[in-house]
Amino acid sequence: MAYKTKEWRNAMRISVDYNYMTSAYLGDKGITDAELRSVKSKAEEAFDYVAQNRGKDELFMGWTELPYNQDAIVADIIATAKAVRKKFKYFVVLGIGGSALGPIMAFNALKHLHYNELPPKKRGGPKFYVEDNVDPVRMQALLDVIVPEETCFNVISKSGATSETMTQFLIIADILEKKGLSLPEHIIFTTDESRGNLIKIDEKYGGKFKKYVLPDGVGGRFSELCPVGLLPAAVLGIDIKGMLAGAAYMDTLCSKPTITKNPALACAALQYITMKQGKNIHVLMPYSDNLKLIADWYCQLWAESLGKAVDYTGKTVNAGTTPVKSLGVTDQHSQVQLYIEGPYDKVITFISVGKYACEMPIAHGCEDIPDVGFLGGHTMEELIQAENKATAYALMRAGRMNYTLNMPEVNAFTLGQLMFLLEMQTAYTGAMLNINTFNQPGVENGKKATFALLGKKGYEAQKKEMDGAPELQSKYIV
Ligand code: PA5
Repeated sequence: MAYKTKEWRNAMRISVDYNYMTSAYLGDKGITDAELRSVKSKAEEAFDYVAQNRGKDELFMGWTELPYNQDAIVADIIATAKAVRKKFKYFVVLGIGGSALGPIMAFNALKHLHYNELPPKKRGGPKFYVEDNVDPVRMQALLDVIVPEETCFNVISKSGATSETMTQFLIIADILEKKGLSLPEHIIFTTDESRGNLIKIDEKYGGKFKKYVLPDGVGGRFSELCPVGLLPAAVLGIDIKGMLAGAAYMDTLCSKPTITKNPALACAALQYITMKQGKNIHVLMPYSDNLKLIADWYCQLWAESLGKAVDYTGKTVNAGTTPVKSLGVTDQHSQVQLYIEGPYDKVITFISVGKYACEMPIAHGCEDIPDVGFLGGHTMEELIQAENKATAYALMRAGRMNYTLNMPEVNAFTLGQLMFLLEMQTAYTGAMLNINTFNQPGVENGKKATFALLGKKGYEAQKKEMDGAPELQSKYIV
């Protein structure tokens, strides 16, 4: 069944304005029509690659189908979420990387910015925390504010072997057990269907844990629209059907192989051209506190997907650009000076919001002080939008490339669109670079090195190598 009316969906459509990337505005600092034409066939090939391989588990492209193949899962999640909301006062996600950034981002985007501090009636659901680190101070801080008897923990790990997540799990399991509480009653697993250590743990408990599947063909950073993100969102009362409908809507907007007709392909082509020009920093700057953490989520998506040593031919390419998170207007007062006058090594993507969730009129006052008096009678929405426009304009005037994703409102449908747009853009860019967008060999190496340092069996040789040459131990330390 279609989500809301066609008119409503079209009114909520995210568009990409890339005028300030082009030579029409930036002169010799901008992209010419000829340059855009020169990547036309590469963009078409990237489009074909994604279109032909979408849904393929073996290529980790199962995420493209998530908006369409989860009806039964969504119904189950909504039922579980209802029960969790009724029974528990706290909901804690244990996970890291792709298993945590999505749930935090959706929470930040779609719930009250001070959700946990709201009185229970206004909050409507359990207090919400995501533990995506192994900082002991942070873990203690969590334990200081939750009541284990009243907490549901969602352990999210595809492998069940991630040291950080399993450390959190061990600590929580111990606390629950010492209190005589049943683990399966307090913990939900989101993990691989049949492999992984959480499955083994569940078997030890006679299969009693409630489990959700992180599908085979969906990697961590592409997993927000599967149970990884959908369960925490549903527990928070977020319209998860709306999120999926938004993703499906963006998918239809990305169904043409032409840069001028496919927003994700347009963004990928712009990124590809500027990468080849040597612009190696990519800033994402939403003008909305609700979207602050989309930049965190996106940084992982972009960095882990495109930062690759070799391409598919085996050639060393050391691909990728460095994503930087920024927040408008806050970072106008910290980073924008660098963006306007520093090296020409950046492309800035703004996310602009058409209508904020509430209005905040600016009171009249100080009319005798012109620097202050002019503000009265306007609204905060007018001010933040004017500053967004003015910053994009100032960058353009300084010959700095920037483009804007126009988001009519921040709601479940537009957030779903935005995520899918950024995922498609990443997949297209990876295809244009001819790299494997969906693996993360560098991260895996770090994980193995941690195993070695903590004395895991089988990693003895690596431990020895990491301990370093004894004669150099004090030589290069000051
Ligand atoms: O994007 C990824 O694949 C990673 O960031 C993983 O999500 C992260 O390393 C956690 O892995 P796992 O889900 O196996 O615990």
